[in-house]
Amino acid sequence: MSDRSLLVVVLAAGEGTRMKSRLPKVLHKVAGRSMLHHVLAATRAAGATRTAVVVGPGREDVAAEASRIVPDAQVFVQTERLGTAHAVLAARAALEQGADDVLVLYADTPLVRAETLARLRAPLAEGAAVAALGFEPEDPTGYGRLVTSGNELVAIREEKDATTAERAIRFCNAGLMALAGKDALSILDRIGNANSKGEYYLTDAVEIARADGRPAVAAKADADEVAGVNSRIQLAEAEAILQQRLRRAAMAEGVTLIAPETVFFSADTVLGRDVIVEPNVVFGPGVTVGDDVVIHAFCHLEGAQLETGVSIGPYARLRPGTRLEAGVRIGNFVETKAAHIESGAKVNHLSYVGDAHVGAGANLGAGTITCNYDGFSKYRTEIGAGAFIGVNSALVAPVTIGAGAYVGTGAVITSDVPEDALAIARSRQVVKEGWAREFRAARAEAKKKA
Ligand code: UD1
Ligand code: CA
Repeated sequence: MSDRSLLVVVLAAGEGTRMKSRLPKVLHKVAGRSMLHHVLAATRAAGATRTAVVVGPGREDVAAEASRIVPDAQVFVQTERLGTAHAVLAARAALEQGADDVLVLYADTPLVRAETLARLRAPLAEGAAVAALGFEPEDPTGYGRLVTSGNELVAIREEKDATTAERAIRFCNAGLMALAGKDALSILDRIGNANSKGEYYLTDAVEIARADGRPAVAAKADADEVAGVNSRIQLAEAEAILQQRLRRAAMAEGVTLIAPETVFFSADTVLGRDVIVEPNVVFGPGVTVGDDVVIHAFCHLEGAQLETGVSIGPYARLRPGTRLEAGVRIGNFVETKAAHIESGAKVNHLSYVGDAHVGAGANLGAGTITCNYDGFSKYRTEIGAGAFIGVNSALVAPVTIGAGAYVGTGAVITSDVPEDALAIARSRQVVKEGWAREFRAARAEAKKKA
């Protein structure tokens, strides 16, 4: 990685009206994380030494997300929306601190990869003052056009200001730009707003640099990578592209996806080798899966850690705080939450295990429910190693089942069960010989009379 210092300026002051949302556009999620988070993660991977984020007025929520991802990010407010160059200059204090390279990105372009940022920035080390990122969209309408001559970038012309010949150019401005730190402020301060929109265009940086005799160049990216998100339709398109990337990356690292198009990952999903994921599985944020795990069809996981050789589903729901140690088996229609289940334990059918610790090798029968909530507080259930919980048992927390204990079928357990004990907690069965026959006869007689 380059040893040149890098200031990243992320523009996040857009209004995002086309999203038709109360949530700011850049906080909408793709693969489980905000668009702003994606952009900041890419810039961090590209070696950002300082980060400035430009937000709109009153956008404390966007500022908070920026600080959560990059704790030392500087947040600037653009009070009036006067154009992309004006937005960059809102971060003047950060630019004045100086950096070898400056990279400007839009927070609504979440798919850009660190490798592409490195390619965009590389010409600065060779003396370029400005580098823009171009791409060839299927439909160039609305984009600025990159006017090139050989390897040189001559100008970026906004569509509204372009001549017919310039409009015919298919090489378009993605919006990302790299500027030499020593030139950046002087160039930005000279950008005016004498154009058809009356805005301060960042794209004018190219012609100003050239007038100074400083070179400008263009790098190229895939259209998929620089697609901006302005609407919910484009949000779904970005999601599809990212899911495709995540699936391919998982398979390349030794995960079998039987029907990849039906499996949905989060950007932070971690998967081991020889994992098998059957169709229709959703990984929410915070999931780590060890080697040799099998995830049967129709499972939903979030905030869960699965160690080597675990098997879950079909139809299992693992909620945050779930930790399944090696070889644990979780079967169909089982829900877990804040549950640490030690190695080899089994919860095979129709159970809820919440706020619980289950010891190694324990067996929870079908329909075992931890009753962890009284409407006000949550309580813990402790199940010792090797314990055996009979079918359809309600364990009323707080409660402890000792190691090796047996709980008889159909129990309602309200007090602790000692180690190796048997607890039976159900009402005694009553049998009345002939009762049903007499009952039917009486009913038939009554019907005849009626
Ligand atoms: C811009 C580029 C255009 C490029 C296109 C790619 C300029 C002048 N034009 O056009 O060449 O093809 O992006 O999508 O740069 N923003 C602010 N404050 C402002 C204005 C914009 O923060 O005052 C942010 C927006 O939130 C957005 C980004 O900058 O994320 C781009 O702004 P937008 O108005 O969408 O620019 P375009 O006209 O699309
Ligand atoms: Ca735009």
